[in-house]
Amino acid sequence: MPNKLPDLETIADNLPLRTHGGAWTYDKLFYLNAYLDRFIVSMRGEKQKWRSIHYIDLFAGPGKNALPDGRLLLGSPLLALSQKRPFDRYFFSDLESANIEVLRKRCAQFSAEYSKISFEVGDANQVVNRVVKTILAIDKPITDKWQSLNLAFLDPEGLELHWETVEKLASRRTDLIIYYPQMGISREGAKEIDQKPPTRIDLFFGDTGWRQIYQKYQRGEESFLHRALLDYYKSKLKSFGYVYDPLPEPIFKNSKDAPLYRLLFACKHPLGNKFWADVTKNLPSGQLRLM
Ligand SMILES: C[S@@+](CC[C@H](N)C(=O)[O-])C[C@H]1O[C@@H](n2cnc3c(N)ncnc32)[C@H](O)[C@@H]1O
Repeated sequence: MPNKLPDLETIADNLPLRTHGGAWTYDKLFYLNAYLDRFIVSMRGEKQKWRSIHYIDLFAGPGKNALPDGRLLLGSPLLALSQKRPFDRYFFSDLESANIEVLRKRCAQFSAEYSKISFEVGDANQVVNRVVKTILAIDKPITDKWQSLNLAFLDPEGLELHWETVEKLASRRTDLIIYYPQMGISREGAKEIDQKPPTRIDLFFGDTGWRQIYQKYQRGEESFLHRALLDYYKSKLKSFGYVYDPLPEPIFKNSKDAPLYRLLFACKHPLGNKFWADVTKNLPSGQLRLM
């Protein structure tokens, strides 16, 4: 049976909620929660293997979500704080100061881990520099094999995440769960292909290589645009030591059945890939996922 998300009664408070998400938000957080559980239970079990274990959430939001059907859900930072075993350190940031203000209050009420959390207001693509600097200081000397292990959840609303940010996190031992903005790329691609670089999609991919794939698709020579683009993105991660089995990237659709985004997972160890394949093989409803 898949892990359930925490009971709603345990999470009532009077602070503002994130209301932008649709029904698909449940599924996204379900997969994250299930992976967090596997990750932290297993990695905490490996005594002294890791110098320190960190959770990084650079698009953190206010900490709780209200779905259109009235369901309340813990947001990603609070899910990380709710795990059976704690992380050594948590990095939470968001562009909106109001979100971080509310998140701070929630975390203070919600968790004994408060003193281990770094909060920051700012663009994720800037904040990442300070996060990586802190991790490098913890990992000194960096040649030492006894490093920290990081799990980064990168969950923007559209095309805000830059490849350079991913690259910086990938330079350390970091498992990545990345929002792949399928609708944003489909919608903006046709416009951006004729624009001077760097466009938002160029920044997302870190170069203009996506344009050749997109042009092939426009000429009818590439039927599966997003499969080809995801493979391209993953091929870039490979050079940082990420290992690839053909892993599922669950797709999230809106109420009109239009694809919104996917979650792309990357890990430098086959065990993480196994965990991801396990937690995403079923839909949150328990049904076998077909794609
Ligand atoms: C999809 S929401 C995150 C939801 C959160 N993961 C949760 O589970 O509740 C995306 C968040 O990213 C923030 N955001 C948008 N652009 C950003 C940027 N460039 N840097 C940091 N945060 C940004 C938004 O304010 C919003 O709170």
